[in-house]
Amino acid sequence: MEKLMVRGGRPLRGSVQISGAKNSAVALLPASILAESPVTLDNLPHLSDVAVYSDILQELGGSVTWNGETIVIDPSDMKSIPMPNGKVKLLRASYYLMGAMLGRFGEATIGLPGGCNFEPRPIDQHIKGFEALGAVVSNDHGSVRIVAKELRGAKIYLDVVSVGATINIMLAASKAKGSTVIENAAKEPEIIDVATLLNSMGAKIKGAGTETIRIEGVDSLHGCRHSIIPDRIQAATYMIAAAATRGDVLIDSVIPKHLEAVTAKLQEMGVHVYEMDEAIRIVGQPLYEAIDVKALVYPGFATDMQSPMTSLLTQTNGVSILTDYVYSNRFKHIPELTRMGARIRVEGRSAIVEGGPLTAAKVRAADLRAGAALVVAALTVPEGVTEIGGAEYIDRGYDHLVDNLRLLGAEVWRETE
Ligand code: EPU
Repeated sequence: MEKLMVRGGRPLRGSVQISGAKNSAVALLPASILAESPVTLDNLPHLSDVAVYSDILQELGGSVTWNGETIVIDPSDMKSIPMPNGKVKLLRASYYLMGAMLGRFGEATIGLPGGCNFEPRPIDQHIKGFEALGAVVSNDHGSVRIVAKELRGAKIYLDVVSVGATINIMLAASKAKGSTVIENAAKEPEIIDVATLLNSMGAKIKGAGTETIRIEGVDSLHGCRHSIIPDRIQAATYMIAAAATRGDVLIDSVIPKHLEAVTAKLQEMGVHVYEMDEAIRIVGQPLYEAIDVKALVYPGFATDMQSPMTSLLTQTNGVSILTDYVYSNRFKHIPELTRMGARIRVEGRSAIVEGGPLTAAKVRAADLRAGAALVVAALTVPEGVTEIGGAEYIDRGYDHLVDNLRLLGAEVWRETE
């Protein structure tokens, strides 16, 4: 167990290179199961969740070779092995094994996913999709068992807009007989990334990135090479940290379009934001206006950026209201921020944040983005050292965070708890 130690108060300055997206990587890795020859993924982030997924693919009989940010997965010898326990429990995104194994082998037995459990995260829409495609889904001693003699295309309306369900249905439907239409699909950039990989593997998917996705099933899929999109949540976190420390940072290797919601909100507060082709420069200012933020599905302000944004809102001169319309209670960072002197109260699905200075404290990350929020908060504190326990949560989603922050001039280091 490790903790992050932060002596804040220094404006971040310089440039930071953003890695590939975690939430794409954890879908693209299992998507490779559907291929019958090697899949090469470039721009893979160095994250614990990615390492765990690579181990899972090897447990299934895949051969995995790493070379820097590139991974080659040869799925040809993979077998349909039940995965009730073990590594699948460490990840939320292990649910993608369901769609991928169903598509390749016609069956999957996967333990209920673990990961960041900031609130109950049901998978009923995933199951609804598999059943619509003709699979029989049952509970096998706490694992989800899914079996289909033959997957048949279907029209599936998602009752809630779900990233995971949209991707899982795309994975299975790529190998179904006939056409599938997903209505009310999620539109996140990671969905387009997965569809792009699957199409390069020979799938026939149209409409990814819109609310209607059409998939014409094919008999077989083959290997290909694909480069993962930049991580918009890591990028947004550095944008927010640069603003919070009144710094001047170039956030490089990003797709600025994916960050429009954050850019707009930062500008509304008074942060200077300059968009370039593949980079964004943030120039912090001494005073910020209080604003209201609504976390929504894409292209709205992402729920994953909500927690770091809460920390930035403590740096305004008024009262801000941040409402999360995706998760009703994703507020595990708030008691910890309160320990640091923040004046925040939760009312229903809103956090009401009164601006004011923060102080150093001993705090704990309860999940990945709650951890990111504490890092942003700690970077603003001019005196003392903030100790952030639970660094392993932060490692799930931030590639070389300590190195990157140090390059930007922050005083951050790791210690064993
Ligand atoms: N939902 C259901 N039923 C379902 C699926 C989802 O009710 O079957 C609800 C959820 O409870 C939630 C909403 O629908 O209220 C959206 O959930 P979604 O399925 O979109 O979330 P997810 O696919 O499980 C991904 C990201 C999360 C991110 C959410 C929302 C991955 C691996 N995870 O989760 O990322 O918060 O979309 O954008 O892609 C993170 O990176 O820290 C993280 C938690």
